[in-house]
Order: sequence, then C-alpha cells, then structure tokens
Amino acid sequence: MVPDTPVGKAEARDLPSIGTLHARAFHSTREWHRRVFPRSIAPWWEEKYARDINDPDCYVLKVSCPDSSTSVLGLLCLRKYKADEKGAGQWSSLHPPPQVDKEAYDALLTSMVENRERFMLGRSHLCVDHFGVDAEYQGRGLGKLLLASACEIADREELDMFVQANEFAESFYQRFGFKTEQKLEMPGGLTECFLTRPCR
Ligand SMILES: CC(C)(COP(=O)(O)OP(=O)(O)OC[C@H]1O[C@@H](n2cnc3c(N)ncnc32)[C@H](O)[C@@H]1OP(=O)(O)O)[C@@H](O)C(=O)NCCC(=O)NCCS
Repeated sequence: MVPDTPVGKAEARDLPSIGTLHARAFHSTREWHRRVFPRSIAPWWEEKYARDINDPDCYVLKVSCPDSSTSVLGLLCLRKYKADEKGAGQWSSLHPPPQVDKEAYDALLTSMVENRERFMLGRSHLCVDHFGVDAEYQGRGLGKLLLASACEIADREELDMFVQANEFAESFYQRFGFKTEQKLEMPGGLTECFLTRPCR
C-alpha cells in the first residue's frame, strides 16, 4: 500500500526504523553500498539521526507507513550550512563503526567536503545530506514528495541547495532544477555527481 500521509518530521520513536532505511533503500540495487555500509551498522544510523533530529540546523523529513507510525518508508535529511562553514556536518564528526569500509568512506567524505566547499562556500545553503526510499516502495512517488518538500523549504528560506548524488539519481535531481557541476569516480567503481540548485 502507498501511504497517503504527507511528508512529516522524523521523531525519536522513528529511530529504529530509520536505522534500517539505508539498507532497505540502497542494498537491493547498489553493490557498493552493501559493501561499504553493511546492514549490521543500523545502530550507527540511529545514532546519527538521534543527533540530526535534535539539531536546529537539520530538517529530517520522512514518509511513514499509515499502518504503523514508526515505520519509515522514505527519508530525506537536509542540513543547513553557514556561508563559512567547512566539513560535512555529522559525517565529519560521527566516526563510522569498524564494519564500514574505511577507505571507501573516507574517499566519499573527502569528495563531499571538497566539492561542497568548492561550489557553496561563501553563501549559506542547504545540503541534501541523505535520501532514500525503501526499495519495496520506490517508483510510487514518495521520493518526489520528499524532494519537493525539501525544495519548498529551500525556496521559502531563500537558500540554494547542494547534493552529492549517485549517478542513478542524477536525472531525478535534475528534474527538480538541480544542475550537475561535477562528476567523480570513487574507489570501488561508484560515480558520484555534485549538483546545485538556485533558490526560486
Ligand atoms: C532516488 C529515490 C530516492 C527516488 O525515490 P522514488 O520514490 O523511487 O521516486 P518517485 O517514485 O517519487 O519517482 C518520481 C519520478 O522520478 C523518476 N525516478 C525515480 N528514481 C529515479 C532515478 N533514480 N533516476 C531517474 N528518475 C527517477 C520516476 O520514474 C518518477 O517519474 P514520473 O514522475 O515520470 O513517474 C529512490 O529510488 C531511492 O531511494 N533509490 C536508492 C537510493 C538513492 O539512489 N538515493 C538517492 C541518493 S543520492
């Protein structure tokens, strides 16, 4: 069943479901993510999001299943950066557990930091920090609802947006006014795209 609930803000009671969302969204089609972010790291995702939902600079947007208010089917985390803020938010400060492929993680983080700073430093902006929809519910409009909601926030706050996306999602973002600024090959064969979107 496709939920008819609108996009809402994630809460503490959603954390157990949020912990498994990355695996539910990425693992069925993305070998790189299965290897780098194994299913066993769910508690680490919970810890990241426990911080994000209490962070005034973060919007953690969710779509939940109507049958269970704790079952998150889609999640988009939007982080606000100040004009002179460096780094990658929680990604820089919350070190991953040993099961994570450290070389691949570090390469991802480095590219995130370098490219966000390269394209966005000097203006306050919003960054799509993490975004996924449970594979069983993909292709039913939930991702569109979440990204539209994030773009609405950006336009209301008059902030430009930045995202580091995998190449499968590139055209999805372009449909919302994002423009590809750069593409990079990561170790292990993942192509990452860096996109920006001017506020409207
Ligand atoms: C990318 C993702 C978030 C999109 O969510 P979704 O719920 O599947 O997308 P929707 O059903 O809202 O799709 C909306 C539209 O975009 C299209 N679309 C969906 N995923 C797309 C993709 N990867 N590339 C291009 N178009 C895509 C759909 O065909 C649909 O088109 P339509 O409006 O003409 O029908 C989801 O597929 C996902 O979680 N994928 C795996 C993780 C991932 O890549 N996350 C993005 C991280 S950068």
